[in-house]
Amino acid sequence: MTQTTPNVYAQRRAALAAQLGAGGVAIIPTAAEHPRNRDSDFPYRHDSYFYYLTGFTEPNAWLVLEATGRCTLFCQPKDLEREIWDGYRLGPGAAVDALGVDVANSVAELDHHVPKLLENQHTVWYPFATHKGLESRVDGWLNAVRARVRFGALCPAQQRDLCVPLDDMRLIKDAHEQDIMRRASVISAGAHRRAMQTCAHMLRAGQDVREYHLDAELLHEFRRHGSQFPAYTSIVAAGANACVLHYRADAAPVRAGELVLIDAGCELDGYASDITRTFPANGQFTGPQRDLYNLVLASQDAAVAATCAGARFSDPHEACVRVLAQGLLDLGLLHPSKHGNAQDVIEKRAYFPFYMHRTSHWLGMDVHDCGSYVEPSELGQNSERKDPLSGETIVNRPSRILREGAVLTIEPGLYVRPAHDVPEAFWNIGIRIEDDAIVTSHGCELITRGVPVIASEIEALMRA
Ligand code: GLY
Ligand code: MN
Ligand code: MN
Repeated sequence: MTQTTPNVYAQRRAALAAQLGAGGVAIIPTAAEHPRNRDSDFPYRHDSYFYYLTGFTEPNAWLVLEATGRCTLFCQPKDLEREIWDGYRLGPGAAVDALGVDVANSVAELDHHVPKLLENQHTVWYPFATHKGLESRVDGWLNAVRARVRFGALCPAQQRDLCVPLDDMRLIKDAHEQDIMRRASVISAGAHRRAMQTCAHMLRAGQDVREYHLDAELLHEFRRHGSQFPAYTSIVAAGANACVLHYRADAAPVRAGELVLIDAGCELDGYASDITRTFPANGQFTGPQRDLYNLVLASQDAAVAATCAGARFSDPHEACVRVLAQGLLDLGLLHPSKHGNAQDVIEKRAYFPFYMHRTSHWLGMDVHDCGSYVEPSELGQNSERKDPLSGETIVNRPSRILREGAVLTIEPGLYVRPAHDVPEAFWNIGIRIEDDAIVTSHGCELITRGVPVIASEIEALMRA
C-alpha cells in the first residue's frame, strides 16, 4: 500500500524543507502502538503527518528532515523472530530505495543520531502537543547537544511547531490525495446503499432488524473493497437515537415507520470519507418525515451552492442556516409570534435547539482534518459579539477563504426532541445529510453522491 508512489512523498518533503528556514531540522514520529490488554493491541494506525511525508505505515518509525532537503528515516530493524510474530518489516536496508529517503537507520539508533543531526543547527521543528512524551525526547536530544558546547558545538536556540506549516500543506489536497478520497467515497457510498437496501429487505421479510445488522453491512462493504478501517466509529441510529449526535451503532430495534440515520465512512489508504444519510426504515417516508427531510436537503443545496474557491469557510454554514431558519418557521417548529422572522431567528440563534452543530469541517487523512479555520492573511482583523444564549463574548476572526483542492463536508441536520411548543408529528425525528466536497474554481465536486440523497430516489433504491 505504501511504497508505490514515493514521488509525491519526496515532493512534500521538499516543499516542507523549503519552509524550515536555514538551519531548520524537523523531527516527525509516527504514532505509538496502543495496548488493549495483555498481548492484544488496538488496531495500529500510523500518524497522519508522518504518513503524509513518507507513505510508510509501520510503527516505531521517525523522520528527520533538514532544511537542505536531506532526510533520514529511522525504522524497525529486520528481525526474523519478531517478524514471525508481528509480520514483515521493511528494514533500513530496503527503506532508502522503497521510500526515496537519503539515509535509513535502525530506530534503536535514534538517540545516537538525532543529537548529531541537531548539532550546529538553528531551529528544531516538531509537532507540538501531538505525541505523548515527544517534548521530553526533544529535551533529551538538546541536552545531549549542550553537553558538547564546551567543544564548540552550537545548540538550536529555537523550537517551532511543525503543525503550522504541515497543516497548511495538508489543507489543500493534491491530485494523488483527491484520487484516493474519490475512491474512498465510492466505497462508502456503496456501503450506505447496501445498508439501506438490507434494512428494507429484512423488514419486508418480517425479520427483527437491529442497528448492529446495518453496522455489519457497512463493515462488510468497506472491507471487501480494501478499506483498512472505518474512518471513525459508525453511527447507526434508529428512531429517536438519531437525536443523539454521537450515538454509536448499538442494539436498538429498527422499526418500520421510523427513520434511520447512518453516519459512516471508510478509511482507504490513509484517507477518510464521511457520509451521512437518513432514510425510512421500510423505504417510505411519512409526510412529516419528508417535510423535515426536504428542508434539510434544501439547506444542503444552499450550502453546496455557496461552496467555491474564494468563498469563506463560513459561507456554506450561513447559507444553510438561512434556509433552516425560514423552514422551521414555515413548518411550525418555531413561531413568528415568539421568534419573529427568519432574520430574527438567525440573530437570536433560535434555530439552535434543532441545529446545534456546524455545517462543515475539513476532511482528509483525519475525519476532522487539520487546517486553520481562520484566514491567515487576515489575522488580527477581529470583531467581538455577545452570544445571545450564553452571554459570553466571542471573538470573530475572519473565516478561512476556500481554495481549490480543499476538501470539506457539508452536513446540515435537524434534531427534534419532544417539547410542548413543537408539533408532535416531528418529535424524535433526527435528520442529517452529509456529503464530501472538493472545492473547485467555480463550485465544488460532491464526491459522495454514489448514494442517493433525494427522498424519492432513496425510496426507489429501497424498493429495488
Ligand atoms: N462523522 C463525524 C462527523 O460527521 O463529523
Ligand atoms: Mn462530518
Ligand atoms: Mn459524519
